[in-house]
Amino acid sequence: MASSPHSSHHHDHDPHDWASADYVSRWARGQDPKETQRQEAFSLLADTIPYDKAVPIKILDLGAGYGALTKFLLECLPNATAICQDGSEEMAKLGRERMKDYTGRFDYVLCDFSRYGWSQLLPGLFDAIVSSIAIHNVGSPNIIRGIYEDAYTLVKPGGCFLNFDRPKPPWEEQMQWLRGAGFEDVKIFWQDENRAVFGGFRKT
Ligand SMILES: C[S@@+](CC[C@H](N)C(=O)[O-])C[C@H]1O[C@@H](n2cnc3c(N)ncnc32)[C@H](O)[C@@H]1O
Repeated sequence: MASSPHSSHHHDHDPHDWASADYVSRWARGQDPKETQRQEAFSLLADTIPYDKAVPIKILDLGAGYGALTKFLLECLPNATAICQDGSEEMAKLGRERMKDYTGRFDYVLCDFSRYGWSQLLPGLFDAIVSSIAIHNVGSPNIIRGIYEDAYTLVKPGGCFLNFDRPKPPWEEQMQWLRGAGFEDVKIFWQDENRAVFGGFRKT
């Protein structure tokens, strides 16, 4: 994770210090006024999940942070539950507080998705894996490709993986990795200049 003294070499480029309580609370305060700019993408993402809104699906949010996307989804899918995965205990603390109203419908799992074996720490399988502005933090194309391969093994047949993220690396390249991992009907579902919702489905 980011720049703690124990972080591994492939995090050295990461300008964020997600392990620091101060950094995380500053980041969250800076993000708050911008949350309205994500609602359209979140809502499109919610509509792309291939289940009726009343179905009790299991969601995994990768790099969930304080749970902005999870919270949005738990609100529009009233019977869904979520696992919020993140590498930062500080983000998890903030998320447990900010999602108090949804207590019982979500749990945090703390692990680093850039490290081998992360997916085995999660209580899968899931109907929908989602992620928001998180996976690009990893930086390394090979590791991101590996995350997509692991994600595929965590999705139930009939489920989906939907990622709202920056074109780092370019979306077309990332979509090729999703197809290589086994996802089908991979495409961009929503985009603006620097963010897109892209992903695909695991067929039954
Ligand atoms: C920009 S924040 C986004 C948080 C949240 N998804 C949102 O949209 O508000 C990036 C999040 O990714 C997490 N993160 C970054 N690198 C990670 C890694 N290697 N493993 C797990 N989480 C990571 C950070 O701790 C942080 O919570």
